[in-house]
Amino acid sequence: MLTIAVSKGRIYEEALPLLADAGIVPSVDPDKSRKLILPTNREDVQLVIIRAADVPTYVEYGAADLGIAGKDVLVEYEGEGLYEPLDLGIARCRLMTAGRRDVPLGARRLRVATKYLNTAKRFFARRGVQAEVIKLYGSMELAPLVGLADCIVDLVDTGNTLRANGLEPLELIMDISSRLVVNKAAMKMKHGAITELIGHLARIVSERA
Ligand code: ATP
Ligand code: PRP
Ligand code: MG
Repeated sequence: MLTIAVSKGRIYEEALPLLADAGIVPSVDPDKSRKLILPTNREDVQLVIIRAADVPTYVEYGAADLGIAGKDVLVEYEGEGLYEPLDLGIARCRLMTAGRRDVPLGARRLRVATKYLNTAKRFFARRGVQAEVIKLYGSMELAPLVGLADCIVDLVDTGNTLRANGLEPLELIMDISSRLVVNKAAMKMKHGAITELIGHLARIVSERA
């Protein structure tokens, strides 16, 4: 059995056509079912539905053989037990700093709100900027509006969320897309099935590019 970890929402929606082209079609719709293990048309493949940030954990511990996770999540996770063989090119966005137009940065020790604690700390340390990083779990764009932070580190796609909250994108930290990740032991134990799937997905992704 191959178990693939995916998160509901945009990654699932964008991964579905890729998986379908690779011959894997879930037989249950996660939006219509409370089931967390989704069987597929293939007897030897199942999907598990988890939170986006939990995908590296499931794959590192071998609870899933493979997973699909945003580069933002993988960089923040800082795990060692994962292979990252393929950029799937889906769920593209940018990880950025952002702040209020009217607030000059750099006047004092910067307060930064984000769910990407490790990544933000590393980014500002590399810059030599003294930053106090405050961990949030969502709605980061609110933090500068209510004085919780001077700026945020968050994902930007269209820029609509920043604009709607009077914030501006400031600096690019990295371009983001979702990657296929593989458990290291599974790569050995299930080598045939996993390399076949990676090869299949790689061809599909390169045909799309
Ligand atoms: P949760 O709902 O569990 O809090 P989440 O907000 O991280 O999780 P999603 O919004 O589905 O879940 O994001 C999953 C991944 O999709 C992110 O890790 C990132 O790689 C990518 N992503 C997030 N927001 C966008 C966006 N606006 N445009 C494109 N890709 C995005
Ligand atoms: C993501 C991200 C930003 C927004 C950026 O939020 O955290 O808030 O998208 O996209 P935009 O530049 O196109 O506005 P998401 O839609 O995933 O909401 P949630 O994670 O808060 O549920
Ligand atoms: Mg989100």
